[in-house]
Amino acid sequence: MHCFPFLFGKRAESAVTTSDVDEEFAAVQNVKLYTYKELRDATDDFCPTNKIGEGGFGSVYRAKLKHGKIAAIKVLSAESQQGVNEFLTEIKVISDIQHENLVKLLGCCVEGKHRILVYNYMENNSLAQTLLGSGMCNIGFDWQIRSRICIGIACGLAFLHEEVHPHIVHRDIKASNILLDKDLAPKISDFGLAKLMPANVTHVSTRVAGTLGYLAPEYAVRGQLTRRADIYSFGVLLVEIVSGRNNTNKRLPIGERYLLERTWEYYQRGELVVLVDQSLDSKCDLDEACRFLKIGLLCTQDAPKLRPIMSTVVKMLTGEISVDETKITAPGLISDLCDLKVRDSHDDRPGAKTASSDPNIFSSSDSVKNSTFSSRESTGATFNFTPVYERSV
Ligand SMILES: Nc1ncnc2c1ncn2[C@@H]1O[C@H](COP(=O)(O)OP(=O)(O)OP(=O)(O)O)[C@@H](O)[C@H]1O
Ligand SMILES: [Mg+2]
Repeated sequence: MHCFPFLFGKRAESAVTTSDVDEEFAAVQNVKLYTYKELRDATDDFCPTNKIGEGGFGSVYRAKLKHGKIAAIKVLSAESQQGVNEFLTEIKVISDIQHENLVKLLGCCVEGKHRILVYNYMENNSLAQTLLGSGMCNIGFDWQIRSRICIGIACGLAFLHEEVHPHIVHRDIKASNILLDKDLAPKISDFGLAKLMPANVTHVSTRVAGTLGYLAPEYAVRGQLTRRADIYSFGVLLVEIVSGRNNTNKRLPIGERYLLERTWEYYQRGELVVLVDQSLDSKCDLDEACRFLKIGLLCTQDAPKLRPIMSTVVKMLTGEISVDETKITAPGLISDLCDLKVRDSHDDRPGAKTASSDPNIFSSSDSVKNSTFSSRESTGATFNFTPVYERSV
């Protein structure tokens, strides 16, 4: 556990002004504490023209810091506010995690009710808004760049899963959480953020319609959250990057709407090449692209245990481990989003089951609560949506 009793005594617990925590905090952290005024000045009073996006945690602004450095600041929404003590403890954990494929946290502001995170600014936005966006994008995503992006994301996730102790399950791997720096190197954003939300605030579930395509079935249906759920989401992202389209596209004719479903169909026919983005030029290595699609299928296998761990995925992507002989079965699909409905959490109908009743798994204190999903496609039963963690997966 990460905590600093010497730092956060009773005084710090009740203190909410920067000056109160500033000195001691700055002395031991590699993260800077900003004042609210500094960040307000850096964004022209949070001017809407500086707003670059809004997600489940709050709004993101482009900010010009004192010495001219550009940063992205995430103003956490009112519901995500927690005590100074817990907030700074989590900040310390996040800021200690550094890797070339993770967005770097530069600092934070914890003053009064304000909770703000200050990140390195990523010049080329997210994969969601560029490669997979519907608007104009002048970045040429050739095969070499895409392959580098896929491998970079895999390395970042392998680091969170296998090198950070205790390991971190990202929970929300998706195109909008993959940012690109000026050289188009991928950086995973928002890792560790779930812990900044109090237990009764549902980040994933309130935005479930947008992210459901990335959710592993066992997570979406039973709230069973392990590293394998991230690996599933990575698999979806991988096929999106190779195909240059979103996993779900309701504007397409039925039968073409769900990319993962199609990937499985074409794999069975031995025609995966059909799914490789046609906008890629003749320099695209089609064999490699098809290999990536197969790895995407492996990562999204229905049974979590069949999904390779991320360090193996990295080796598969780089060709160090062959995938030719690996048996691939049908991916786990929750293809009809309409089948999944957010229901009242107090579901006491017969058949309603709480995931955490499983003796082999335990509930997390920072669980996403108060949402219940049902899926006709899976078992027909209704489950309380509470992330639970397996001890060693
Ligand atoms: N460090 C950053 N540099 C540049 N742009 C960023 C940065 N962080 C976020 N953004 C932009 O802000 C947008 C909103 O980010 P945010 O993380 O709040 O929402 P999201 O990723 O769309 O959804 P979620 O809250 O589920 O993660 C991103 O899509 C991206 O375009
Ligand atoms: Mg995000």
